Amino acid sequence: MKVRIAENAGFCFGVKRAMNMAWDELENKTSDSVYSLGPLIHNKQAVDRYKEKGLMEMDSLDKIPNDSKLIIRSHGISKKIYTESKSKNMDIVDTTCPFVKKIHDIVREFSNKGCKIIIVGNATHPEIVGINGWCDNDAIIINSEEEVDNITFNSNDKYCVVSQTTANLESFDKIVSKLKSKIQDLTVNNTICSATKERQLSATELAKEVDCMVVIGGKHSSNTQKLVNICKNIVPTFSIETKEELEKSKLEKFKVAGVTAGASTPDWIIDEVIEYLKEI
Ligand code: F3S
Repeated sequence: MKVRIAENAGFCFGVKRAMNMAWDELENKTSDSVYSLGPLIHNKQAVDRYKEKGLMEMDSLDKIPNDSKLIIRSHGISKKIYTESKSKNMDIVDTTCPFVKKIHDIVREFSNKGCKIIIVGNATHPEIVGINGWCDNDAIIINSEEEVDNITFNSNDKYCVVSQTTANLESFDKIVSKLKSKIQDLTVNNTICSATKERQLSATELAKEVDCMVVIGGKHSSNTQKLVNICKNIVPTFSIETKEELEKSKLEKFKVAGVTAGASTPDWIIDEVIEYLKEI
């Protein structure tokens, strides 16, 4: 089988930076207890390597002892979590992606100016939970065009819309144009990060030129699942976390396979998949 790889695939700048910062911390341990609040990234295989190195993962700040070292993930956290971790005298290693930090700043600024914040994204995703925490958890969170119809906007209020960094560009544009038809005073901030746009565009282009696509990445990774949906609309698509999930019998009929990967997929997992496909 011939294999082609999307021009932009795998670890993005923010994840690479966060993973390097966390690894450095574990290598040069200045504290016996290094914790992360939730999984470092949405990739089980990569996270397991960090756990083997000594990283302890907790789902709540209450479970982390005072004075510990706390790694903040690239997804970022709310203002409240910063305050609480400082009051527990924690030493913070902040790997929040600078693009996410920028959204926190926008949300805080516009919220302080009296604007109502609208976030386009998945309400339960840690990035959105964190962003909402910079406007007193008061944001309107929308994930589809249809949801806009169910919301009543106050004509006297000012609104500011931002997007999850991994939102789909087409769907964000549609939601914004619907919002514009209902809101008089709306400030639009397209905060989809360039890494996401590049990955989505490369995946679209490649999917048009191959017989099938293999999308590698965590089942809980928002940006990976967006890539899966984009490719699925163009060619038969296989969504996998590792090469073990590929079934030779289902792939044999294809001559050329395209490969792309979410922003939290390490290179070594991508390489293993490519090698496997080439052998078919
Ligand atoms: Fe940052 Fe964009 Fe990656 S926001 S974590 S560079 S997908």
